Amino acid sequence: MAGILEHILQRRSIRRYTAEPVSREDLEALLRAAMAAPSAMNRKPWEFLVVTEPERLAALRRRLVLGNYNAPAAIVVCGNLRRAAPAIAKDFWVVDCSAATENILLAAAGLGLGSVWIGVYPVRAMMSLVAGLFKLPRHVAPLAVVWVGHPAEDKPPRTQYDETNVHWESFA
Ligand SMILES: Cc1cc2nc3c(=O)[nH]c(=O)nc-3n(C[C@H](O)[C@H](O)[C@H](O)COP(=O)(O)O)c2cc1C
Repeated sequence: MAGILEHILQRRSIRRYTAEPVSREDLEALLRAAMAAPSAMNRKPWEFLVVTEPERLAALRRRLVLGNYNAPAAIVVCGNLRRAAPAIAKDFWVVDCSAATENILLAAAGLGLGSVWIGVYPVRAMMSLVAGLFKLPRHVAPLAVVWVGHPAEDKPPRTQYDETNVHWESFA
């Protein structure tokens, strides 16, 4: 228990990385963590595109104006709209894929890796840029890019606990 809480508090957005590649084993561990996330009606509407080729990473960086970092790997977390829940529950794909994204960040912290979540959904222009670059089928929507690598910066853990955001029993 102490272990997981420690990783949750240690996780910070890392924006500077060493050139050391992320091992295939670690990437697979991150994907296993991602797919262990809860999902509405257990639809698991996620797809993960793992990018490590330098030219592809460079093209991705050029498109991410607010997320141009030098990590040696990226995981593009996407929703498969064909596997999304039906009718009014459809948009749960966003929530499910966000849970998977957070699991990647926490698992990365646990493995001593750095990571940062770059928001793509719901900004239509960014979704188009990412979908176009990776030729995503129309039913696959990009939610986030997660940069992953070995950290070249050190950030302290923090809780950001704010009791004014907590409401015990009633909101009054
Ligand atoms: C939905 C979402 C979108 C984000 N988009 C970006 C982004 O485009 N660029 C970036 O550098 N960080 C991005 N971040 C990371 C946040 O800036 C970061 O989590 C926040 O500043 C708190 O810092 P911490 O992660 O170190 O606790 C995003 C985080 C979330 C959850």
